[in-house]
Amino acid sequence: MLSRMDPKLMYWTGATLNMAVLLGLAVRGMGRARSGQVASHRRFMLSSVALVLAFVVSYLFKLLFLGREDLATWTSGAVWTLRFHELCVFTMLISGGLAARRGIRLARTRALIESETASEPRPEDLRSHRIAGRVAVSAAALGLLSAGAVLGGMYGRAAG
Ligand code: HEM
Repeated sequence: MLSRMDPKLMYWTGATLNMAVLLGLAVRGMGRARSGQVASHRRFMLSSVALVLAFVVSYLFKLLFLGREDLATWTSGAVWTLRFHELCVFTMLISGGLAARRGIRLARTRALIESETASEPRPEDLRSHRIAGRVAVSAAALGLLSAGAVLGGMYGRAAG
């Protein structure tokens, strides 16, 4: 039985749920791109990006008001799981940022808009966007899995 629900545990539970939702949006958005529904793809992906940004802002507030975790009480396995998780999140942020930047460029082309005056999307932009996007979504999936393991450890320590 959990003796208390501390604010950090509540925060990380919310953050993990947020990650599950943003991954769900990204996976659905990826499906839309594959079926050629670019406008719908854009909406799903930008909603997912908005949840990533909301997490980043919330994390700054968490550091400010709740501080860092005390890793001295963690097993070395738990610390390594956390490091792996942080690597996934870092990869997601960098590659997601690159995908979004290319995506915004693609949004001005006929990839998204049906206008005579719009230019054709450059094949290398489509390709680099697709690769960066796939890396970001894969990193988010591994990030969610490892977040589940990290969170499980937190609940275990709180109960023990
Ligand atoms: C900002 C507006 C966006 C536009 C206009 C856009 C547009 C596109 C287009 C046209 C494709 C098809 C590429 C091709 O035919 O090779 C595509 C694919 C893809 N996009 Fe986006 N995108 C946007 C945002 C994003 C974001 C923010 C992400 C991820 C963070 C993302 C991830 C992906 C992925 C993973 C694919 C590949 C789907 C697949 O074939 O597996 N997109 N996008």
